[in-house]
Amino acid sequence: MRHLLNPLDFKVDEIDHLLNLAHDIEEHREKYAHVCAGKKLATLFYEPSTRTRLSFEAAMLNLGGSILGFSSADSSSAAKGESVADTIRVISCYADICAMRHPKEGAPLVASQFSTIPVINAGDGGHQHPTQTLTDLLTIKSLKGRLDNLTIGLCGDLKFGRTVHSLINALVRYSNIHFVLISPQELKIPEYVREKLINTQGVTFTEVSNLDEALPQLDILYMTRVQKERFFNEEDYIRLKDSYILTKEKMKLAKDDMYILHPLPRVNEISVEVDKDPRAAYFRQAQYGVYVRMALIMTLLEVDKPC
Ligand code: ASP
Ligand code: CP
Repeated sequence: MRHLLNPLDFKVDEIDHLLNLAHDIEEHREKYAHVCAGKKLATLFYEPSTRTRLSFEAAMLNLGGSILGFSSADSSSAAKGESVADTIRVISCYADICAMRHPKEGAPLVASQFSTIPVINAGDGGHQHPTQTLTDLLTIKSLKGRLDNLTIGLCGDLKFGRTVHSLINALVRYSNIHFVLISPQELKIPEYVREKLINTQGVTFTEVSNLDEALPQLDILYMTRVQKERFFNEEDYIRLKDSYILTKEKMKLAKDDMYILHPLPRVNEISVEVDKDPRAAYFRQAQYGVYVRMALIMTLLEVDKPC
Protein backbone atom coordinates (compact mmCIF):
# COMPACT_ATOMS: atom_id res chain seq x y z
CA MET A 1 0.00 0.00 0.00
CA ARG A 2 1.29 3.47 -0.92
CA HIS A 3 0.55 6.95 0.36
CA LEU A 4 1.27 10.37 -1.16
CA LEU A 5 2.60 12.68 1.55
CA ASN A 6 5.31 14.53 -0.35
CA PRO A 7 5.95 14.82 -4.11
CA LEU A 8 9.21 12.93 -3.50
CA ASP A 9 7.19 9.80 -2.65
CA PHE A 10 6.92 9.27 -6.40
CA LYS A 11 10.02 8.81 -8.55
CA VAL A 12 10.37 10.96 -11.68
CA ASP A 13 9.37 8.09 -13.97
CA GLU A 14 6.31 7.38 -11.80
CA ILE A 15 5.31 11.04 -12.04
CA ASP A 16 5.77 10.90 -15.82
CA HIS A 17 3.56 7.82 -15.92
CA LEU A 18 0.91 9.56 -13.80
CA LEU A 19 0.93 12.68 -15.97
CA ASN A 20 0.60 10.54 -19.09
CA LEU A 21 -2.36 8.75 -17.52
CA ALA A 22 -3.92 12.12 -16.62
CA HIS A 23 -3.46 13.22 -20.23
CA ASP A 24 -5.15 10.07 -21.51
CA ILE A 25 -8.03 10.65 -19.07
CA GLU A 26 -8.42 14.19 -20.41
CA GLU A 27 -8.63 12.85 -23.97
CA HIS A 28 -10.85 9.81 -23.29
CA ARG A 29 -13.01 10.63 -20.24
CA GLU A 30 -15.71 8.06 -21.07
CA LYS A 31 -13.23 5.15 -20.99
CA TYR A 32 -12.61 5.80 -17.28
CA ALA A 33 -16.22 6.32 -16.20
CA HIS A 34 -16.54 3.05 -14.23
CA VAL A 35 -13.02 1.96 -13.35
CA CYS A 36 -13.50 2.70 -9.62
CA ALA A 37 -17.06 1.40 -9.31
CA GLY A 38 -17.64 0.12 -5.76
CA LYS A 39 -14.69 2.10 -4.33
CA LYS A 40 -15.04 4.93 -1.81
CA LEU A 41 -12.96 8.05 -1.28
CA ALA A 42 -13.08 9.82 2.10
CA THR A 43 -12.20 13.52 2.21
CA LEU A 44 -11.07 14.53 5.70
CA PHE A 45 -10.71 18.30 5.67
CA TYR A 46 -9.76 20.01 8.93
CA GLU A 47 -9.06 23.27 7.03
CA PRO A 48 -11.06 25.24 4.42
CA SER A 49 -10.85 24.21 0.77
CA THR A 50 -12.74 24.70 -2.46
CA ARG A 51 -10.61 23.18 -5.22
CA THR A 52 -8.76 20.36 -3.52
CA ARG A 53 -11.74 18.78 -1.80
CA LEU A 54 -14.20 19.27 -4.62
CA SER A 55 -11.76 18.23 -7.35
CA PHE A 56 -10.99 15.05 -5.38
CA GLU A 57 -14.71 14.38 -5.08
CA ALA A 58 -15.30 15.15 -8.76
CA ALA A 59 -12.37 12.89 -9.65
CA MET A 60 -13.76 9.90 -7.72
CA LEU A 61 -17.28 10.46 -9.10
CA ASN A 62 -15.86 10.69 -12.64
CA LEU A 63 -14.25 7.28 -12.06
CA GLY A 64 -17.57 5.74 -11.02
CA GLY A 65 -16.74 5.61 -7.29
CA SER A 66 -18.44 7.20 -4.29
CA ILE A 67 -17.43 9.83 -1.76
CA LEU A 68 -17.89 10.57 1.93
CA GLY A 69 -16.22 12.90 4.38
CA PHE A 70 -16.26 16.13 6.32
CA SER A 71 -15.27 19.64 5.31
CA SER A 72 -14.30 21.18 8.64
CA ALA A 73 -12.86 20.02 11.94
CA ASP A 74 -15.94 21.47 13.68
CA SER A 75 -18.30 19.08 11.96
CA SER A 76 -16.25 16.01 12.88
CA SER A 77 -15.44 14.42 16.24
CA ALA A 78 -12.11 16.28 16.19
CA ALA A 79 -14.22 18.97 17.88
CA LYS A 80 -14.72 16.51 20.77
CA GLY A 81 -11.00 15.86 21.01
CA GLU A 82 -10.56 12.77 18.82
CA SER A 83 -7.00 12.26 17.57
CA VAL A 84 -5.98 11.93 13.90
CA ALA A 85 -4.71 8.43 14.69
CA ASP A 86 -8.09 7.26 16.01
CA THR A 87 -10.00 9.01 13.24
CA ILE A 88 -8.02 7.31 10.49
CA ARG A 89 -8.39 3.88 12.10
CA VAL A 90 -12.15 4.37 11.89
CA ILE A 91 -12.15 5.87 8.39
CA SER A 92 -10.11 2.86 7.22
CA CYS A 93 -13.23 0.76 7.99
CA TYR A 94 -15.46 2.98 5.84
CA ALA A 95 -13.42 3.94 2.76
CA ASP A 96 -10.80 2.56 0.35
CA ILE A 97 -8.65 5.71 0.10
CA CYS A 98 -8.60 9.12 1.76
CA ALA A 99 -7.41 12.67 1.20
CA MET A 100 -6.59 14.68 4.32
CA ARG A 101 -6.01 18.41 4.79
CA HIS A 102 -4.89 19.55 8.21
CA PRO A 103 -3.51 22.78 9.72
CA LYS A 104 -0.75 20.84 11.52
CA GLU A 105 2.35 19.95 9.54
CA GLY A 106 2.84 16.20 9.51
CA ALA A 107 -0.77 15.24 10.38
CA PRO A 108 -1.24 13.19 7.15
CA LEU A 109 2.08 11.44 7.90
CA VAL A 110 0.77 10.47 11.35
CA ALA A 111 -2.47 9.30 9.72
CA SER A 112 -0.53 7.12 7.27
CA GLN A 113 1.14 5.33 10.20
CA PHE A 114 -2.22 4.19 11.58
CA SER A 115 -4.08 3.73 8.31
CA THR A 116 -4.90 0.57 6.42
CA ILE A 117 -5.92 2.57 3.32
CA PRO A 118 -3.80 4.95 1.15
CA VAL A 119 -3.55 8.45 2.63
CA ILE A 120 -3.11 11.46 0.37
CA ASN A 121 -1.79 14.70 1.84
CA ALA A 122 -4.18 17.40 0.62
CA GLY A 123 -2.15 20.15 2.35
CA ASP A 124 -0.55 20.11 5.81
CA GLY A 125 -0.02 23.51 7.43
CA GLY A 126 2.73 25.53 5.77
CA HIS A 127 4.54 22.34 4.79
CA GLN A 128 3.54 20.47 1.60
CA HIS A 129 0.69 20.17 -0.91
CA PRO A 130 1.72 17.34 -3.25
CA THR A 131 -1.49 17.02 -5.27
CA GLN A 132 -1.33 20.72 -6.11
CA THR A 133 2.17 20.00 -7.36
CA LEU A 134 0.94 17.19 -9.60
CA THR A 135 -1.62 19.66 -10.92
CA ASP A 136 1.10 22.27 -11.50
CA LEU A 137 3.36 19.78 -13.27
CA LEU A 138 0.55 18.64 -15.57
CA THR A 139 -0.30 22.28 -16.33
CA ILE A 140 3.31 23.22 -17.12
CA LYS A 141 3.83 20.09 -19.23
CA SER A 142 0.61 20.67 -21.17
CA LEU A 143 1.32 24.36 -21.79
CA LYS A 144 5.09 24.32 -22.37
CA GLY A 145 5.50 20.74 -23.62
CA ARG A 146 8.31 20.03 -21.13
CA LEU A 147 9.33 20.01 -17.48
CA ASP A 148 13.02 20.76 -18.07
CA ASN A 149 14.93 23.79 -19.39
CA LEU A 150 12.67 26.30 -17.68
CA THR A 151 13.07 29.54 -15.76
CA ILE A 152 10.36 29.59 -13.13
CA GLY A 153 9.47 32.63 -11.04
CA LEU A 154 7.82 31.89 -7.69
CA CYS A 155 6.30 35.05 -6.31
CA GLY A 156 4.63 36.08 -3.04
CA ASP A 157 4.54 34.16 0.21
CA LEU A 158 7.37 31.69 -0.24
CA LYS A 159 7.68 31.18 3.51
CA PHE A 160 4.24 29.80 4.34
CA GLY A 161 3.13 28.80 0.81
CA ARG A 162 3.09 25.01 0.91
CA THR A 163 2.42 24.77 -2.81
CA VAL A 164 5.75 26.51 -3.42
CA HIS A 165 7.65 24.10 -1.15
CA SER A 166 6.17 21.06 -2.88
CA LEU A 167 6.69 22.46 -6.38
CA ILE A 168 10.37 23.16 -5.67
CA ASN A 169 10.75 19.63 -4.26
CA ALA A 170 9.35 18.16 -7.44
CA LEU A 171 11.05 20.39 -10.01
CA VAL A 172 14.61 20.10 -8.71
CA ARG A 173 14.63 16.60 -10.19
CA TYR A 174 14.34 17.87 -13.79
CA SER A 175 17.33 19.21 -15.70
CA ASN A 176 18.28 22.82 -16.27
CA ILE A 177 15.72 24.44 -14.00
CA HIS A 178 16.38 27.98 -12.82
CA PHE A 179 14.22 29.43 -10.05
CA VAL A 180 13.72 33.14 -9.49
CA LEU A 181 12.37 33.48 -5.95
CA ILE A 182 10.48 36.76 -5.68
CA SER A 183 9.35 37.78 -2.19
CA PRO A 184 9.70 40.39 0.53
CA GLN A 185 12.54 39.72 2.98
CA GLU A 186 10.13 38.38 5.64
CA LEU A 187 8.50 35.87 3.29
CA LYS A 188 11.57 34.16 1.81
CA ILE A 189 11.63 30.36 1.45
CA PRO A 190 12.29 28.39 4.66
CA GLU A 191 15.82 27.19 5.36
CA TYR A 192 15.05 23.50 4.65
CA VAL A 193 13.82 24.38 1.17
CA ARG A 194 16.83 26.63 0.51
CA GLU A 195 19.17 23.79 1.55
CA LYS A 196 17.47 21.49 -0.90
CA LEU A 197 18.11 24.02 -3.68
CA ILE A 198 21.74 24.50 -2.67
CA ASN A 199 22.40 20.78 -2.42
CA THR A 200 20.83 19.76 -5.72
CA GLN A 201 23.22 19.70 -8.65
CA GLY A 202 22.06 21.30 -11.86
CA VAL A 203 19.53 23.62 -10.18
CA THR A 204 20.21 27.33 -9.90
CA PHE A 205 18.25 30.03 -8.12
CA THR A 206 18.25 33.74 -7.38
CA GLU A 207 16.33 35.55 -4.64
CA VAL A 208 14.96 38.99 -5.50
CA SER A 209 12.26 41.33 -4.23
CA ASN A 210 11.36 43.15 -7.45
CA LEU A 211 8.78 41.45 -9.69
CA ASP A 212 9.17 43.89 -12.62
CA GLU A 213 12.87 43.15 -12.95
CA ALA A 214 12.31 39.40 -12.82
CA LEU A 215 9.39 39.23 -15.28
CA PRO A 216 11.21 39.47 -18.67
CA GLN A 217 13.29 36.32 -18.11
CA LEU A 218 10.51 33.97 -16.94
CA ASP A 219 8.92 31.01 -18.77
CA ILE A 220 6.42 30.50 -15.92
CA LEU A 221 5.28 32.92 -13.23
CA TYR A 222 3.80 31.10 -10.23
CA MET A 223 1.92 33.69 -8.16
CA THR A 224 0.83 32.97 -4.60
CA ARG A 225 -1.43 34.49 -1.96
CA VAL A 226 0.01 35.81 1.28
CA GLN A 227 -1.12 33.07 3.70
CA LYS A 228 -3.12 35.10 6.22
CA GLU A 229 -4.00 32.08 8.35
CA ARG A 230 -0.33 31.30 9.11
CA PHE A 231 0.58 34.76 10.46
CA PHE A 232 1.09 35.31 14.16
CA ASN A 233 -0.09 38.90 14.09
CA GLU A 234 -2.50 40.76 11.85
CA GLU A 235 -0.30 43.85 11.56
CA ASP A 236 2.39 41.91 9.71
CA TYR A 237 -0.20 40.42 7.39
CA ILE A 238 -1.69 43.82 6.57
CA ARG A 239 1.77 45.24 5.88
CA LEU A 240 2.74 42.37 3.55
CA LYS A 241 -0.51 41.32 1.89
CA ASP A 242 -0.24 43.58 -1.15
CA SER A 243 3.50 43.20 -1.71
CA TYR A 244 2.84 42.12 -5.32
CA ILE A 245 -0.06 42.86 -7.61
CA LEU A 246 0.23 41.57 -11.17
CA THR A 247 -1.50 43.97 -13.56
CA LYS A 248 -2.12 44.20 -17.31
CA GLU A 249 0.55 46.90 -17.42
CA LYS A 250 3.16 44.67 -15.77
CA MET A 251 2.32 41.81 -18.15
CA LYS A 252 3.83 43.93 -20.96
CA LEU A 253 7.21 43.09 -19.42
CA ALA A 254 6.65 39.33 -19.78
CA LYS A 255 7.48 37.06 -22.73
CA ASP A 256 4.61 36.26 -25.13
CA ASP A 257 4.83 32.61 -24.13
CA MET A 258 5.19 33.07 -20.38
CA TYR A 259 2.28 31.47 -18.53
CA ILE A 260 0.87 32.64 -15.21
CA LEU A 261 -0.02 29.89 -12.74
CA HIS A 262 -1.63 30.33 -9.32
CA PRO A 263 -2.85 27.52 -7.06
CA LEU A 264 -5.82 29.77 -6.09
CA PRO A 265 -7.65 31.17 -4.21
CA ARG A 266 -6.58 34.60 -5.47
CA VAL A 267 -7.02 37.62 -3.24
CA ASN A 268 -5.35 40.77 -4.65
CA GLU A 269 -2.13 39.47 -6.14
CA ILE A 270 -3.46 39.13 -9.69
CA SER A 271 -5.67 41.92 -10.91
CA VAL A 272 -8.87 40.54 -12.52
CA GLU A 273 -8.07 42.43 -15.74
CA VAL A 274 -5.24 39.89 -16.27
CA ASP A 275 -7.75 37.02 -16.51
CA LYS A 276 -8.43 37.85 -20.16
CA ASP A 277 -4.75 37.58 -21.09
CA PRO A 278 -4.22 34.28 -22.98
CA ARG A 279 -1.18 33.72 -20.77
CA ALA A 280 -3.36 33.57 -17.63
CA ALA A 281 -3.53 29.80 -17.03
CA TYR A 282 -4.82 29.54 -13.45
CA PHE A 283 -8.38 28.47 -14.24
CA ARG A 284 -7.15 25.88 -16.75
CA GLN A 285 -4.80 24.73 -13.98
CA ALA A 286 -7.80 24.06 -11.70
CA GLN A 287 -9.32 21.88 -14.45
CA TYR A 288 -6.09 19.89 -14.80
CA GLY A 289 -6.38 19.21 -11.06
CA VAL A 290 -9.34 16.91 -11.70
CA TYR A 291 -7.55 14.77 -14.31
CA VAL A 292 -4.41 14.41 -12.25
CA ARG A 293 -6.39 13.42 -9.14
CA MET A 294 -8.28 10.83 -11.19
CA ALA A 295 -4.90 9.43 -12.27
CA LEU A 296 -3.64 9.50 -8.68
CA ILE A 297 -6.67 7.69 -7.25
CA MET A 298 -6.32 4.98 -9.92
CA THR A 299 -2.60 4.64 -9.23
CA LEU A 300 -2.93 4.36 -5.44
CA LEU A 301 -5.85 1.93 -5.73
CA GLU A 302 -3.85 -0.06 -8.31
CA VAL A 303 -6.68 0.14 -10.81
CA ASP A 304 -5.59 -0.93 -14.31
CA LYS A 305 -5.80 1.48 -17.19
CA PRO A 306 -8.73 0.36 -19.38
CA CYS A 307 -7.91 -0.57 -22.97
N1 ASP B 1 -5.05 26.54 -1.99
C1 ASP B 1 -3.63 26.48 -1.79
C2 ASP B 1 -3.31 25.81 -0.47
O1 ASP B 1 -4.23 25.32 0.16
C3 ASP B 1 -3.01 27.83 -1.91
C4 ASP B 1 -3.58 28.88 -1.00
O2 ASP B 1 -4.46 28.58 -0.17
O3 ASP B 1 -3.11 30.01 -1.09
O4 ASP B 1 -2.17 25.75 -0.11
N1 CP C 1 -5.35 25.10 -4.63
C1 CP C 1 -5.98 24.76 -3.50
O1 CP C 1 -5.50 23.97 -2.70
O2 CP C 1 -7.22 25.32 -3.36
P1 CP C 1 -8.20 25.10 -2.11
O3 CP C 1 -7.47 25.66 -0.90
O4 CP C 1 -9.45 25.82 -2.45
O5 CP C 1 -8.39 23.63 -1.95
